[in-house]
Amino acid sequence: MSNKRVLSGIQPTGNLHLGNYLGAIKNFVAMQNEFQCFFMLADLHALTIKTQPKILNESILNTAASFLAAGIDIKKNIIFCQSKVSAHTELSWILNCIARVGWLSRMTQFKEKAGSNKEKASVGLYTYPILMSADILIYKATHVPVGDDQKQHLELCRDIAMKFNSDYNNDYFVIPEPIIPKYASRVMSLRDGRKKMSKSEESDLSRINLTDSKDQIVQKIKKAKTDNDPISENIFSENSTRYEAQNLIKIYSNLKSESLDTVLNDFNGKTFSDFKKNLSELLVEKIQPISKKIKQYRSEDKELINVINTGSEKANHTAEKTILDIKKIVGLL
Ligand code: TYM
Repeated sequence: MSNKRVLSGIQPTGNLHLGNYLGAIKNFVAMQNEFQCFFMLADLHALTIKTQPKILNESILNTAASFLAAGIDIKKNIIFCQSKVSAHTELSWILNCIARVGWLSRMTQFKEKAGSNKEKASVGLYTYPILMSADILIYKATHVPVGDDQKQHLELCRDIAMKFNSDYNNDYFVIPEPIIPKYASRVMSLRDGRKKMSKSEESDLSRINLTDSKDQIVQKIKKAKTDNDPISENIFSENSTRYEAQNLIKIYSNLKSESLDTVLNDFNGKTFSDFKKNLSELLVEKIQPISKKIKQYRSEDKELINVINTGSEKANHTAEKTILDIKKIVGLL
């Protein structure tokens, strides 16, 4: 078995969307044969924002079903629940004592999520990147596939790992590398090309969900905001403000596995209404099989729970060893 190891996770909150797919899950599937992979349902992270227990429960199962439907093979890899491996939270406390307050206060995602009322945000939302670091370091992951919005959290994780190694004068922690897709590392909202596509955005028209039907996909792309100019190279010129156009072209390029230049060449001079037909067809071709499989997996929740429990047992096996080592290193009995 290769000693290259992947850990990544997704918060089970709301519907997984095209951003999660292109930014993360597609890469999970691409890496699963080369690496030993741990794919995590980050259910403890989902508690950082107020959520209804029933909805959280459903989202955990939906996210597990989405992993399987997207093609994660559990014969080779592990799908597990963060809350079922207690070593994550144990390590998180130790790392809380390594990380510096100044490091956390620079995290832009906290500022975005907490909004103007920081005092009312949960402490968990503030310290969440430390739990995320524990998720990664407890498996000594060498590679972490994520979208661009998690890059800063990965840098923090690297800083924490280096400080731990230096404070305790060893090289116990592997310093993990982020794996961020070249195109579509930040898929933007279909309604506003300056905002990230997100589960929490109120309008469902802003995102393509992995559970959307063919008609929903076609409608959402039809209604997606664009400009009136035809497709041309200037979409990506330095001063371009054609954000929505950039987003749709990047989505197409990623799904089709073609470079931006090739796509721009193929559609040069065409209108966005022409392009949207092609984009809808491509999206339907890629997303429909996933959404059908999600439904199938959800019709057998017992099986799904079995997959999670088996994966969590395996994850526990690895994580337990790390936490024992770390306790020894820091001087706990
Ligand atoms: P989460 O649940 O917000 O997102 C899951 C993954 O999807 C990516 N992503 C996107 N990529 C491109 N465009 C978008 N619009 C978009 N929206 C989301 C994210 O970058 C992420 O890769 N904290 C993490 C979950 C987590 C984790 C971890 C990840 C917990 N522990 C350890 C990696 C390693 C989160 O909230 O992701």
